[in-house]
Amino acid sequence: MSNGLEDVVAAETVLSDVDGLAGRLIIRGQPLGSLAGHASYEDVLSLLWDGFFPDLPDDLRQPLADARARVFALLHRELSLVADHPAFDAMRALMALLPDGTDLESALLLAAAPGAFLPALLRLRAGNQPLAPDTGLTHATDALRMMNGVVPRPELARALDTYLVTVADHGLNASTFAARVVASTEAGLTSSVLAALGALKGPLHGGAPGPVLDMLDAIGRPDNAEHWIGGELARGGRLMGFGHRIYRVRDPRADALKAALARIGGGGRAELAATVEGAALKALKRHKPDRPLDTNVEFYTALLLEAVGFPRDTFTAVFAAGRVGGWIAHAKEQAATGRLIRPKSRYVGPVPKVAA
Ligand code: SDX
Repeated sequence: MSNGLEDVVAAETVLSDVDGLAGRLIIRGQPLGSLAGHASYEDVLSLLWDGFFPDLPDDLRQPLADARARVFALLHRELSLVADHPAFDAMRALMALLPDGTDLESALLLAAAPGAFLPALLRLRAGNQPLAPDTGLTHATDALRMMNGVVPRPELARALDTYLVTVADHGLNASTFAARVVASTEAGLTSSVLAALGALKGPLHGGAPGPVLDMLDAIGRPDNAEHWIGGELARGGRLMGFGHRIYRVRDPRADALKAALARIGGGGRAELAATVEGAALKALKRHKPDRPLDTNVEFYTALLLEAVGFPRDTFTAVFAAGRVGGWIAHAKEQAATGRLIRPKSRYVGPVPKVAA
């Protein structure tokens, strides 16, 4: 039995390859470096969804923008019913009401939903009225506009777009596996995405970026980094933003996001972050000499999303806004080429006293 299915190949996929030894991520044959900072999120959706929807248009920019408008019109009355809940839970509840089909319309509504609902929920939380989508804008630009009420500076929109591209797909991570398990039963895309959202929320997976900022807040000053990190590890704590089940070297997405962050001025904590990252890597090498624990995607995710203007309690929801495209592709691939996912388990519980 492989605990956590470590090293178990549970599916074949054409969608992405995560090479943990080389520190390389490929999405449908394209190295991450050729996509992050160059392709739009709409381009990467087209790349991921190619071959899985017979009616897939060549360019998804307008179909995704129109889907943002439709999903907002469909559920804007329900926004106020869930607005007092944590943003991720409220967004998940709204997405649960979307049509549970397997067609392109269901896929577009699901892909559009986080970018439409999260800004609306944040505006309600701040006491403002939600803004309807502007279907003349790209997904990243419109999400920031709907959140802040003004069209963002192009470099901020580009930074968010780079983030959405960078996290769009990543092999058989926990949330994607959850999506595939549900799709393997022939349930709809909304059911698959709902399962994936649940898996993403955990701090060992997509719930890590917010706690990265909590760690930076707790450390406070560069000269306190070593002491705080040493204490955290001594208490058996985990350093959020470091370590990975697959990568045994630096996660290539860390540098893609670090470069995107630099393009918008590095955010307000660049010096502290650099010192903390260096101190963490040194401490982790001492702490686990036999287990390479390097920077993963979440460390620079936290800095980038903070710099772009998202509150830290919404970082996992923004992660979902990017990964939803990958979840949908994997669900469609599982339905097309897989079969019901049903592994065995080894019973180690009590045995009956007398034979039944
Ligand atoms: C994501 O799979 C994906 O692709 C995920 C993801 C994606 O795009 O979908 O890349 C996104 O989830 C990134 C990871 C975000 N999570 C964090 O940053 C949380 C901190 N990281 C760790 O919890 C951990 O590294 C995991 C969960 C990411 C991976 O853990 P594994 O592979 O299950 O390894 P493990 O927990 O068995 O750790 C091995 C040892 C343990 O020590 P022992 O129990 O053997 O004594 O290393 C230690 C761990 O305690 N360890 C850490 C650590 N990560 C592992 N110790 C301190 N700090 C850490 N960050």
